[in-house]
Amino acid sequence: MKKSTFLFLCLTLLLAGCGKPSPRYHIGISQCSDDEWRQKMNNEIRREAMSYPDVSIEIRTARDNNQLQIQDIEYFIQQKVDLLIVTPNEAVPITPVVEKAFDQGIPVIIADRKIMSDKYTAFVGADNYEIGRDVGNYVASRLGGKGNVVEITGLVGSTPAIERHQGFVNALKQYPGIRLLAKQDGGWLQVLGTEAMDSLLSIYPDIDLVYAHNDRMAIGAYLAAARAGRQHNIAFVGIDALPGPEYGIDQVAKRHLDASFLYPTGGDEVFRIGMAILNGLPYPRETILSTAVVDSTNVRITQLQTDHIATQDSKIELLNLQIGTYLTRYANQQLVLYASFIILLLLGCITFIIFRAFRTKNRLNEKLSRRNAEITRQKEQLESQRDQLISLSEQLEEATHAKLVFFTNVSHDFRTPLTLIADPVERLLADESTLNTQQTSLLRIVHKNVNILLRLVNQILDFRKYENGKMELVLAGGDLRQQVKEWNNAFLSVALKKHIRFQFFPLEGADYRLTADWEKLERVYFNLLSNAFKFTPENGKVSVQLSTFRHDGTEFLRLQIADTGVGIASDHIDRIFDRFYKVNAHHAGSGIGLALAKVFVELHGGTIQVESTQGSGTLFTVDIPHRMPTTETDNPSDEPDTPATSLVLLPEEEFSQPMESTLTETDEKHATSLLIIDDNADIREYIRTLFCDKMTVLEAADGKSGLQLAFKYVPDLIICDVRMPGIDGLECCKRLKKEIQTSHIPVLLLTACTQDEQRIEGFESGADSYIAKPFNSKVLEARIFNLLENRQRLKSLFGEGTSLNKESISDIDKDFVSRFKQLVEENLSNPELNVEELGKSM
Ligand code: FRU
Repeated sequence: MKKSTFLFLCLTLLLAGCGKPSPRYHIGISQCSDDEWRQKMNNEIRREAMSYPDVSIEIRTARDNNQLQIQDIEYFIQQKVDLLIVTPNEAVPITPVVEKAFDQGIPVIIADRKIMSDKYTAFVGADNYEIGRDVGNYVASRLGGKGNVVEITGLVGSTPAIERHQGFVNALKQYPGIRLLAKQDGGWLQVLGTEAMDSLLSIYPDIDLVYAHNDRMAIGAYLAAARAGRQHNIAFVGIDALPGPEYGIDQVAKRHLDASFLYPTGGDEVFRIGMAILNGLPYPRETILSTAVVDSTNVRITQLQTDHIATQDSKIELLNLQIGTYLTRYANQQLVLYASFIILLLLGCITFIIFRAFRTKNRLNEKLSRRNAEITRQKEQLESQRDQLISLSEQLEEATHAKLVFFTNVSHDFRTPLTLIADPVERLLADESTLNTQQTSLLRIVHKNVNILLRLVNQILDFRKYENGKMELVLAGGDLRQQVKEWNNAFLSVALKKHIRFQFFPLEGADYRLTADWEKLERVYFNLLSNAFKFTPENGKVSVQLSTFRHDGTEFLRLQIADTGVGIASDHIDRIFDRFYKVNAHHAGSGIGLALAKVFVELHGGTIQVESTQGSGTLFTVDIPHRMPTTETDNPSDEPDTPATSLVLLPEEEFSQPMESTLTETDEKHATSLLIIDDNADIREYIRTLFCDKMTVLEAADGKSGLQLAFKYVPDLIICDVRMPGIDGLECCKRLKKEIQTSHIPVLLLTACTQDEQRIEGFESGADSYIAKPFNSKVLEARIFNLLENRQRLKSLFGEGTSLNKESISDIDKDFVSRFKQLVEENLSNPELNVEELGKSM
């Protein structure tokens, strides 16, 4: 939680704590009625409660209705009041609900009227039986022991009505002259008192006194008598003697009532006992309030006293109100004080936070401006670097351009001398009868390789032409199906030689007539098919499919070439159409053939795509829009221009070398043997031609078969190419030098790599000599004979029975050998003798 939020929460809680305290006790008061007697009682309770700020009181009145009072008490039970005060309307119906409250642990005070159970905590009220008796005695004395009396009772089911009657009747028993004429229910109400009196008056003409159970009913009876004009002959006695205008004491003073018996409300006493219960203080279970008669003899003094009490009460009330006001004001002032304090504190906090934020902001700004300066400096640095890079790249571009121009010019210049080599060689080959076998073989190698060079030079020139935007299509009409068939013928012998299943599937019924640059299409096709044959192993499959399809309203011809060759790795496949991109160093070719094929296809508005899975084959798909012959020259029946033979290398030539690693052993046997390991058949052929009349020549097209031949025949010398697929020359050399039976064989590494590091690497692998391509045959011969002679000299030097007196051996060598022999012979029985020991002794 943030510091400021926490502070704010604390302050809010503090403020909330400064308000009025929530009451500790909640007291529920259920009044059976709401007349003046009840109001006086309620006022007394309220006045008392004013001294207890932690007590809240709630008064409910049932308006003389049992059902309503049950509901009120249920409500207080639900509210879980801390104390319940009940003045029961009628005893029987109210008893169960009071018991329920009591059983639930709520302390219950029964006031004024009783219930039919002792399940209550305390009782406060007057002794109604005694009051009844007092009234009886008073009536007897008032009437001088003789006269007719009628009784108007309170609510039948309420205990005061019952007890006041019983007390009265029992008292009258002592006075036989007093006759109780009748008893009529007045329900505690004035109106019912009047009604009862009306009926009694009509029945009894001689009534001396009316005993009403309260003043209200006595006044009602008096009014009824007054209406009948009989009020002066009848005395009216009531109970309650309430102060206040028109109430009991006032009526006695006015002589409407003869007397009234004080029935105390006792609200203050009820509340005091309640607080004692709540606070766990001792209290009386039964509190009986005292009574007294008010008649003409004491009414004046009583009035004075009650008025005085009323004045005192209102003064107390006023004081209480004032205290309340002061307390409220004090609480408000306290609140304002706390609020001010909190606001001040908040202001302090806010000022502090603002100050801190301001300071942080300043620091951040400083940091930011420092960083900005740094960024600006870096930006300037980057800009200057960028400018440098731009200028460098421009320089590079210029240099590249100059190189390419030079490259193009050189390539161009190569064409004439190459043609001048190719043509005379062709002519010489045309008349084979004048040549011996070796010459024919050498010339064929020359012829083939000149053609390869010419093809490469032409490809480079074509690509430059395309890059300069000068490549144009020479369009002619033709039938692609027919053409593919013819082109396929050139690959049949290769297929046969390599045992490759070669199939052509043209979709029947389609029209393959097309206007195209046939020479370029032929080059595309030859390139793709040559690759397919080159990378498909023996017993593999190459298939060509021709079909048509429609896309976006355009008719396309689709040529698909699939092989079961080695496939292309996924990291190379996206780049195989890039200019000069070679899959790896062992792949033959300049890396321009596929780039050119793509260019040619795109010039026809077509696309070329490749899909390949390494190890299981490659599929090239060429899609060309089906452009029908439109011009006069576009005649489908016309033969397409035959491309210059120099531009397309015939498969026969390309695949004239053995495709797989093979072991070639010459039949002729010589004393010396030579093993040539090279993946280029021409090189092998050429070296073989150079040495076949002097020694037995063994040939291997890769490292693995080379090693097999070396271990089998243990040749006198090995010529090995460095770069070969599979086991390369360096590895070959290492393995040969590790094996005891071949370690003595001189190895001559042959490579196109001329850098010193590669030479060092070659010698480190144990090579005896290193010759760079292109090599001079004389140098190669001299080097080979030198190596063989050295080997021969060593053999004769260390060979068994060799005499050290030969003149060809230098004195140093002779001395060295004789000392060595002597040392060995001396130590023949020494098992500890080793090279180090020998070296030390020597
Ligand atoms: C007030 C009252 C009094 C009477 C008392 C008896 O409701 O009727 O007049 O004395 O109740 O409980």
